[in-house]
Amino acid sequence: MLPEKIADILSAPFKINKLTLANRLVMGPMAVGAPTAEGAPSEQTIAFFERRARGGIGMIIAGGVVATARSFEETPFKPVLRFDVESLIPQFRRVADTVHAHGVPIIAEIMPGFGRMGVPGPGRPIISASPINVVIPEQNFPKGVLVPGGRTTPEPDEATVEEIEQYRREMVDTASNVQRAGWDGVEVAAHMSYFASSFLSPRTNWRTDQYGGSVENRARMLTNIVRNIRERLGPDFVIGLRITANDYMPDGQGAAGFSAIAKEVEKAGLDYVALSTGCYETMDRSAPSVDGGLVDTGDARLFRNALSVPLLLQGLHDPARAAEAIADGHGDMVMLARPMLADPDYARKACSGRTDDIVHCTRDNLCMRRLVFNMPVRCSVNPAMGRESRKSGSLPPARRFIEAPVEKAILALTGSRRFMGLVGAVIKRRS
Ligand SMILES: Cc1cc2nc3c(=O)[nH]c(=O)nc-3n(C[C@H](O)[C@H](O)[C@H](O)COP(=O)(O)O)c2cc1C
Ligand code: SF4
Repeated sequence: MLPEKIADILSAPFKINKLTLANRLVMGPMAVGAPTAEGAPSEQTIAFFERRARGGIGMIIAGGVVATARSFEETPFKPVLRFDVESLIPQFRRVADTVHAHGVPIIAEIMPGFGRMGVPGPGRPIISASPINVVIPEQNFPKGVLVPGGRTTPEPDEATVEEIEQYRREMVDTASNVQRAGWDGVEVAAHMSYFASSFLSPRTNWRTDQYGGSVENRARMLTNIVRNIRERLGPDFVIGLRITANDYMPDGQGAAGFSAIAKEVEKAGLDYVALSTGCYETMDRSAPSVDGGLVDTGDARLFRNALSVPLLLQGLHDPARAAEAIADGHGDMVMLARPMLADPDYARKACSGRTDDIVHCTRDNLCMRRLVFNMPVRCSVNPAMGRESRKSGSLPPARRFIEAPVEKAILALTGSRRFMGLVGAVIKRRS
């Protein structure tokens, strides 16, 4: 496809509820905002989002945001933004004002709980729809992420009805904080192997109460959350849903089952659905090394046919493939996550026919490895990423002179097949 044609398709404005997006490219949620340890946006958080808004992206979905006290305590990634604390609203308002100054809407992806991927603490077990843990085989980690012997998480407790209800109340209160901070909407996180997603498939939901069994029951927690947010915050506040399109598990439910759930939740008042691929067990599908999964498998098409609301695709780094997918009706917009780390000006370039100038993400997943080790996220091809707030010519903060070499050593060792092979052999011998 010619660059001019790509630009024509991608630069077409689009409406979500009352918002008008300048183009069809959306920044996908990523926990890369470098908030403070208390969960407040830092100067770096603001500078990171400002840079992407300045680069012409149509809408920003902020990731790494927790909506409940429990999710703040059990998060496997630190630090995270905390929208459940009212006193932080003025600081979040600064983020919205900065991004809005570029005419770009901003949505918070809100996480009720990390469920099967949460970190248990004293007196605080992890909870899920049913007591089934996550087993990630070594070969299913994304490219560049070496975990000898794979990973097996602890078995969660079955969530009680009161715990599910508490999450619902907290999600609605948090959505209200998001609105009061001047943000444009929320995206309910129900993907990967986190708490909400555990309800969606019979593989992870064995309940026999009102939250298990039929599609209506498995969708109930989400429909209640969406309906309550809509009732409390009015018709104009944007509510999205991030959902797994396909878990790719042999005993999973595939895109037909997940799209049936999305259709059920849509009735409660959704404004859009954003797709994610795979789950933690099939994590290589979630951060894929090639373009087009959702489109080539026909999974996006199943969602498109099931839903009336706008559909956001992912996994299309090549602007030609992104434009093609939209032109062919697989979805309405394309979410870019890692490409937004690699090139904050991606959208401006793609929408003005300068596709050759885009700095492409190499999918080496350094960003993800840093996230997994709770290090500040950086990008292999964009040295400015993660340092947007630093004035040019200024020195990094003093603590970085100690932290940076340690991080480098950890990354070198954990990136070495030989070293990780030895670690794997020791673990095997001990178990
Ligand atoms: C560093 C990093 C952090 C991420 N954090 C989140 C997050 O907080 N919430 C979320 O839904 N997805 C998160 N993701 C997943 C992305 O949204 C996206 O699904 C994935 O990277 C694949 O899309 P891409 O090929 O455009 O990168 C993260 C990905 C990366 C690389
Ligand atoms: S570090 Fe940069 S280039 Fe590498 S996968 Fe992440 S975004 Fe892409």
